[in-house]
Amino acid sequence: MAKIVAFSTNKGGVLKTSLAINVAGSLATQGKKILIIDMDNQGNIATSFGQDPDQYETTIYDLLTDLTDKHLSDAIVTITPNLDIIAANDDLAYLEIDILTDAKKYPDCFNLLNRVIKRVSDDYDFIIIDTPPAMGLVAANVFNVADDVIIPLQPEQYAFRSLVKTVGAIEKFKATNKSLQIVDVVPTKVRNTNMHHAYIDAAKNYTKSMDIPFSSIMIRDTVKYGEMTARLGMPVTMIEHPSKILSPYKDVFDSLVKELGYLD
Ligand SMILES: Nc1ncnc2c1ncn2[C@@H]1O[C@H](COP(=O)(O)OP(=O)(O)OP(=O)(O)O)[C@@H](O)[C@H]1O
Ligand SMILES: [Mg+2]
Repeated sequence: MAKIVAFSTNKGGVLKTSLAINVAGSLATQGKKILIIDMDNQGNIATSFGQDPDQYETTIYDLLTDLTDKHLSDAIVTITPNLDIIAANDDLAYLEIDILTDAKKYPDCFNLLNRVIKRVSDDYDFIIIDTPPAMGLVAANVFNVADDVIIPLQPEQYAFRSLVKTVGAIEKFKATNKSLQIVDVVPTKVRNTNMHHAYIDAAKNYTKSMDIPFSSIMIRDTVKYGEMTARLGMPVTMIEHPSKILSPYKDVFDSLVKELGYLD
C-alpha cells in the first residue's frame, strides 16, 4: 500500500505545489512509483508538467463525484514510467456546492478521496497530494486519508497564526484517521533577514512544544525558481544531469526527501 503524503496549509503561495512536485520528482527519479493527485482547482500540477489542465476531460473532480469506478483509468495520466498524475482544473471549484447540496448521494462526504485512493493505493509506493490554500471540504477529505502531512511555512507576519490554525485543523482529524501525522514543517521563501530568522525561531519553538518536527532544510527566496520551472516543464528533481546552475535547486529537494526518510 502506498504512503499518502499531503502538502498543506491554508496560506497561499508558500510553495505547497513546488514542494509536492519536487518531492514526487525526486522519489520517482530514485526508483519509487509515484502518483500525484491535484486537489486544487488552480490545476497547478498539470501546469508544472507543461500540460494545460483544461485539456483533460476526466479529472479528480469526476473521481470524487462519480461513485462508480468508470472514470478511474481515464483520469490517470502517465508522465514518466515512474510518475502518474491525476489532474485538477476549474471543475473542482464546484465540488463543495455539488457535494453539500446532495446529502442523499454523498452521505460520507469526508471520505470521497479515501474511496478513490483505496482503488489505486496498491499500484504506487507514494501518493502525493497537492492541496489548495483553504480549509474546506477538500482539506477534510485530504486529512481523512493522508498518513503524512508536510506544512510549508513562509516566515512572514501572518505565518505563525496560519501554522497554529493548520496544526489545529489537522489534529481534529486524528480521531478518524489514526495514521495521520505532521512529519515536517519546512521554511520556504526564506530571506537572510533578522525578521525572517525571528519568525523561524518562533515557529521552531511552537513546533517543539507540539512535538512536531521542524525541517533543517530551508528553501531560499529566489525569483529564478519560477522562471526555471516554467522553462523546464517538469520539476528540477527530475533532471538527471542538471547544469551547475540547476544543481543547487535539485539538491535542496533531494535533501528534503532524505530528511523525510522516504528512501529507506
Ligand atoms: N524558492 C522560491 N523563491 C521564490 N519564489 C518561488 C520559489 N519557488 C517557487 N516560487 C514561486 O512562488 C510561487 C508560489 O509557489 P507555489 O505555487 O509552489 O505555492 P503554493 O503554496 O502551491 O501556492 P497556492 O497556494 O496558490 O497553491 C510560484 O510562482 C513559484 O514559481
Ligand atoms: Mg499550489
